[in-house]
Amino acid sequence: FRTLDDADLAHKRVLVRVDLNVPMESGRVTDDTRLRAILPTIRAITDQGGKAVLLSHFGRPKGRDASQSLAPLAKALEAQLGRKVSFAEDCVGDAAQNAVSRLAAGEVIVLENTRFHAGEEKNAPDFVDALASLGDIYVNDSFSTAHRSHASTEGLAHKLPAYAGRSMEGEIEALTKALEAPARPVLAVVGGSKVSTKLELLGNLVRKVDVLVIAGGMANTFLAAQGKKVGKSLCEHDLADTARDILKKAEAAGCEIVLPVDAVLASEFRANAPHRVAGVDDVGENEMMLDAGPQTVARVEEKLDGAKTVVWNGPFGAFEMAPFDAATVTVARYVGKLTREGRVLSVAGGGDTVAALNHAGVAEDFSYVSTAGGAFLEWLEGKALPGVEALRR
Ligand code: 3PG
Repeated sequence: FRTLDDADLAHKRVLVRVDLNVPMESGRVTDDTRLRAILPTIRAITDQGGKAVLLSHFGRPKGRDASQSLAPLAKALEAQLGRKVSFAEDCVGDAAQNAVSRLAAGEVIVLENTRFHAGEEKNAPDFVDALASLGDIYVNDSFSTAHRSHASTEGLAHKLPAYAGRSMEGEIEALTKALEAPARPVLAVVGGSKVSTKLELLGNLVRKVDVLVIAGGMANTFLAAQGKKVGKSLCEHDLADTARDILKKAEAAGCEIVLPVDAVLASEFRANAPHRVAGVDDVGENEMMLDAGPQTVARVEEKLDGAKTVVWNGPFGAFEMAPFDAATVTVARYVGKLTREGRVLSVAGGGDTVAALNHAGVAEDFSYVSTAGGAFLEWLEGKALPGVEALRR
């Protein structure tokens, strides 16, 4: 696909799909990763005298909803960018047309939430046309929405000359390196609470990676499928057959599966609940496995020592509650160290994962941390992302 290096941006109205869907609490941005990620693209446009017209969704509003406005994000971006960012109260129609026509070369504007219009998610031709009329060229800098086939993420690429922005380019390059043509052995860590949400992911990874570490609540489903008693642990007992099937597929594909051998057990789900460490064969009826134990961590570290590429999605335990964050933090720091020493290429992504790495203080040490949640998972599942495909044509 074409990148900003191929585009003539001077004096052009550049419609840029960004992802301003960032976590907020009482009007303040609590994680600015996605804002920082789009700065290089915005600067490339303004430096060359282009007009940056930014499109994004926020939340999942049903129609116009003031609580989901992008106005505060225009302010937050202004602070990050260090230059004025104006705001238009609609992304189509007169408000948008007038605001965009007033832009001078090198200026930046954020248009209101695209999801205030039903045409966005429907990828409706008339809505795509209305957006397209605001720009001369289209830049998609939002890998994290590339799994959505919406007007601003997909439709526009067919209407205007389309280019990948810097962040989009970086994401695709890093993920391709990690999964499509990786240095082997490749080790993947897949954690999180439920197998059911990551079935396709596990199914694809056993065919692609050499070692698959199954962690977090979802590991319990595998342990139960192997006949172990999991007590009150999170477990999808109805997925026992599916879990066994995944293990069989892994064996056939020559993918080694690493499951917990010990766990941190507690009978209450709260921070600092009384706990003990025991083998996975020794879980009491009223106990829950809330984290992986030290032997499991040692085993994972040993496997990591032999790896060249590490892909990480999902925590080992209930990492938001001390002390059940220990395995996640220890392993994350180990991967961070191996990365700093140049021994592995490490890529992480997905909602909780970035929070877990930030909690461990190692997000900066990883080779690449994706800004994407759902899109990162779909990429790992081996699915084509409509937003990326549209750029390739
Ligand atoms: C995300 O936060 O993963 C993206 O912004 C996509 O949001 P969505 O799941 O509401 O489409």
